[in-house]
Amino acid sequence: MTDLSGRVALVTGGTRGIGLATAKALAEAGATVVLTGRDESRAKEAAAAAGASAGLALDVTDAKAVSTLVRGVAKEHGKLDIVVANAGIMEDALLGMIKEDLVDTTLSTNVAGTLHTVQAAARAMMRKKTGAIVVLASIVGEYGSAGQTVYAASKAAVANIARSAAKELGRSGIRVNAVAPGVIDTDLTAGLAEDAKADNIARTPLGRLGAAEDVAKAIRFLVSDEASFVTGQVLGVDGGLVL
Ligand SMILES: NC(=O)c1ccc[n+]([C@@H]2O[C@H](COP(=O)([O-])OP(=O)(O)OC[C@H]3O[C@@H](n4cnc5c(N)ncnc54)[C@H](OP(=O)(O)O)[C@@H]3O)[C@@H](O)[C@H]2O)c1
Repeated sequence: MTDLSGRVALVTGGTRGIGLATAKALAEAGATVVLTGRDESRAKEAAAAAGASAGLALDVTDAKAVSTLVRGVAKEHGKLDIVVANAGIMEDALLGMIKEDLVDTTLSTNVAGTLHTVQAAARAMMRKKTGAIVVLASIVGEYGSAGQTVYAASKAAVANIARSAAKELGRSGIRVNAVAPGVIDTDLTAGLAEDAKADNIARTPLGRLGAAEDVAKAIRFLVSDEASFVTGQVLGVDGGLVL
């Protein structure tokens, strides 16, 4: 089992789904985990469920709030070793139906939110010249998806945040990777029609939808010393869906 004892970790969007499973997986491996969500009471509840040390309110679209929170966590614990920039949203719209508001909300949450988090994490990790960051891309960011142009564009940007930040931060001992989940059974995909789910399962060599825990385990690997020479990668966690 991966050992993360003595490490301090922050997971954004840790109240549900992949973020909650990741917070749990990191805590089980011995890390001290702080998770965040937009609502403080939901974040506190999730922290208790995950075995995390704290659940804090944070909207990742607010650059100043992200910077303050990340600095605060690093100050309280004396360091910050692991950051998982997981918070994200997905709303489908065919090209002709895309509204400006959808573009603004998706890009400010998925792209700017991830960027603010990676930037704040890098600042906090720079002093100790060590750290591991994981961001949440998607297979649709790599391959595109009809009806998901805005979301796919946002996730392509996220993958390139990982690649660019990895190039910039490697000399400071900070690794940055992305995971690109396929279709994972969470609130985000709950609205998917049953026939669309069945179609995805039929096209997936491993024959099922992913669970949040599948992605959490891949993230736990990437932030651990097991991945000490892995940076700038986008790791598919999709059961082989895009092969
Ligand atoms: N599920 C999939 O199939 C799939 C596939 C590929 C990639 N992903 C990516 O994986 C990540 C997690 O997805 P999920 O399926 O676990 O989604 P989810 O169940 O909908 O959970 C999303 C999380 O993000 C938080 N969040 C949303 N907007 C936020 C904001 N502005 N500021 C702070 N937190 C915010 C939510 O917290 P609150 O609502 O409590 O604030 C929640 O904890 C996302 O980035 C998603 O794009 C998911």
